[in-house]
Amino acid sequence: TNKGVIFDLDGVIVDTAKFHFLAWRKLANDLGFDFTEEQNEQLKGVSREDSLKKILDWGELELSKTEFKRQMALKNENYLSYVAKMDEDEILPGVQKVIDYLVENNVPFALGSASKNARNILKKVNLLDKFDAIVDGTDVSKAKPDPEVFLIAANKLNIKPENSIVFEDSVAGVQAANNAKMISIGIGEQKTLGEADYVFTDFTEIDIEFIKKLLTK
Ligand code: BG6
Ligand code: MG
Repeated sequence: TNKGVIFDLDGVIVDTAKFHFLAWRKLANDLGFDFTEEQNEQLKGVSREDSLKKILDWGELELSKTEFKRQMALKNENYLSYVAKMDEDEILPGVQKVIDYLVENNVPFALGSASKNARNILKKVNLLDKFDAIVDGTDVSKAKPDPEVFLIAANKLNIKPENSIVFEDSVAGVQAANNAKMISIGIGEQKTLGEADYVFTDFTEIDIEFIKKLLTK
């Protein structure tokens, strides 16, 4: 095959999306307001800095530069306290079988994540050396929905954007894949991720036959 696969991390490979939500929500609560799970969809795939900007907008708050930085650090500290307890069991159901199939069939695959904690998390769940390339929040300057992260990943895998298959759980990430002219597969709800070429609730719903077909098409 001349095709390759790019995985988002949070909410696709591992269920860390829930930890991000808990940590951001605590930050908002400590600042005296709250936000909904629906609003949280807008934070998925978005960088740490842009997430805090959005949340402060919702709370109609402005922070000094120093306080902004301090809040980002506090959020990350809180988030990492959840991450510390992670192990292989946190790999989302059905993901391992897809990764095993790609490895067995020599299909190149990369990580394309906005997170600066990506390598740390992959290590915790024992997947760090499986990837042919890793592109994360420390490698990019433009956040999803900009296609930068996925274009760099495809380039590292030596595959063309139109031959790249992207798994994403966020609206911004699906848009980034579409902006890169890649094949986008949404993991989550159709009503949220309707812009994707295909949508599955989770990886247990993805048949290896489907992956095979996409790779040979
Ligand atoms: C994305 C998550 O993968 O990474 C966002 O969907 C998160 O929720 C972003 O804010 C940045 O992550 P980190 O780990 O660098 O704060
Ligand atoms: Mg995600």
